[in-house]
Amino acid sequence: MRKKIVAGNWKMNKNFQQAEELLSEISEQVKTKATSDVTVVVCPSFVFVEMALDLCRDEKEQDIFAVGAQDVSVHDKGAYTGEVSAEMLKSMEAEYCIVGHSERRKYHNETNADVAQKVEMLLQNELNPIVCVGESLEERESGKLFDVIKTQINEGLFGLQPVDFLHVVIAYEPVWAIGTGKTATSEQAQEIHKYIRSLIEDKYGKEIARNISILYGGSCTPQTAPELFSQPDIDGGLIGGASLKAEDFLAIINSFEK
Ligand code: 13P
Repeated sequence: MRKKIVAGNWKMNKNFQQAEELLSEISEQVKTKATSDVTVVVCPSFVFVEMALDLCRDEKEQDIFAVGAQDVSVHDKGAYTGEVSAEMLKSMEAEYCIVGHSERRKYHNETNADVAQKVEMLLQNELNPIVCVGESLEERESGKLFDVIKTQINEGLFGLQPVDFLHVVIAYEPVWAIGTGKTATSEQAQEIHKYIRSLIEDKYGKEIARNISILYGGSCTPQTAPELFSQPDIDGGLIGGASLKAEDFLAIINSFEK
């Protein structure tokens, strides 16, 4: 059966001391209070990946915690100043990597073709991509919602062989809900999650569709998470702002129905 996952995307937040403090708090809370059937993933800035792995080693060994990055290079190695490769992340023992976040699509012109290449790099190095898809408000209001999602999934992911696709996690993040305080309603989110699962079923069959975790992201809070996570096709969340406070993050982790 598919995994329940709550992943924190720290984006470009926290300095060294603050990251250390937050990681220690998360590690303590996850160890003592988190529900054990949820995989917790923390995605700090690249520069704190090693620290996250060191501070949360015990939880990582218990398989309830993993560290991820927020991006990866499309290249495998070489003269690409400032880039970080999938092999580098793998050699650090990171396990996940966010790809195609709307902020990267917007500020760094990341395309679906880039997403496909990054996913390929990650899978070659046995890392799990968390692939973000989602529509803008304009796209939703002009009736292009389903087409946008379909194109992002088709071009970003459907070149994969079934055995590789099984390692992918998808995050539905409506752009209008990110950092705006406007969470999608659980009905809106469920509708798209169900649609994404139907696309997977059409391409790879029922069994694989049943086994892919699809996360919701966009102003998810301890208040909104319980209803979202109770939807049949929502398997957890990709959390921005609320992952920067250990208490809120833990409350979201514990939002699944018992
Ligand atoms: P917020 O939770 O801050 O809206 O961010 C969501 C997000 O972009 C996670 O990747």
